[in-house]
Amino acid sequence: MYHKPVLLNECMELLGILPGGTYVDATFGGGGHSRGLLKKLETGRLIAFDQDEDAAQNAFEDPRFTFVNHNFRFMKNFLRLHKQVPVDGIMADLGISSHQIDIPARGFSTRSEGALDMRMDRRKPLTAHTIINTYTEEKLIETFRMYGEIINAKKLASKISEARRAKEIASTTELVAIAKTCAERGKENKYLAQVFQALRIEVNQEMENLEEFLSQCLNVLKSRGRLAVISYHSLEDKMVKNYFRTGNFEGELKKDFYGNVLSPWKMITRKAVVAGEKEIEENSRARSARLRVAEKI
Ligand SMILES: C[S@@+](CC[C@H](N)C(=O)[O-])C[C@H]1O[C@@H](n2cnc3c(N)ncnc32)[C@H](O)[C@@H]1O
Repeated sequence: MYHKPVLLNECMELLGILPGGTYVDATFGGGGHSRGLLKKLETGRLIAFDQDEDAAQNAFEDPRFTFVNHNFRFMKNFLRLHKQVPVDGIMADLGISSHQIDIPARGFSTRSEGALDMRMDRRKPLTAHTIINTYTEEKLIETFRMYGEIINAKKLASKISEARRAKEIASTTELVAIAKTCAERGKENKYLAQVFQALRIEVNQEMENLEEFLSQCLNVLKSRGRLAVISYHSLEDKMVKNYFRTGNFEGELKKDFYGNVLSPWKMITRKAVVAGEKEIEENSRARSARLRVAEKI
């Protein structure tokens, strides 16, 4: 299976789908959420984005559906091109698909041998190989600290730098062997996940893309249109939460004369929606999923 959708029913319900509306799935992947959206749409339209060309194989033959093989940071331009602005709802299910993790050559998995790639969009030049082999030690420290929240980033960067002086670090297995020497005994898997997360975020410029995407949502949504975002790590979730709460990325609360919060968004979910035990049992990826939904005022 390409990918099993997470929080599918919750997402469909909270988007409040209008049967004749226009919707965007910013992260098509295996098309699980898109299929759910199309089921609810009668005369409506769905425009789906995915920057990975592999996702195109899942695109539907349906006159209501358009697939765009590009980064969602260009959503506004593509929606204009397809004359689909404004829209009634947008959803994004961030991160990578099971398909991407399952193919060793893509380099996303800590468990199998593959090239240090980690690009979702293979038309882009930056790979994990470039980062690991050419970034300065300072830049490596910053990447691991910022995107992996790794406490001993200095030690890790120094080990990488030492290893690459002897020989280029070419594979995920080589990187795993180096990183393991920096991990606390018994916590190797968690540590490796943090290292790989940091690299993946840097390779794919995930935080920049998310910020750009969220800002555009406000421009392309109708008033009372809804935005649903599922995130899988705290950096993304924090950005989404701050943005929904305050309308800016710093999380600065602006209030009017009467003390009312000035945000262009009304929160539909007061707290993040998380998966139930049954879903987590059937799909371990659901464990870290956090869904937040807001409505444009
Ligand atoms: C978690 S999967 C989505 C799974 C999908 N909801 C489903 O039900 O099959 C995330 C997908 O979003 C894509 N993606 C991540 N960031 C993206 C971006 N900035 N622009 C376009 N696609 C992106 C990935 O390539 C991946 O296929």
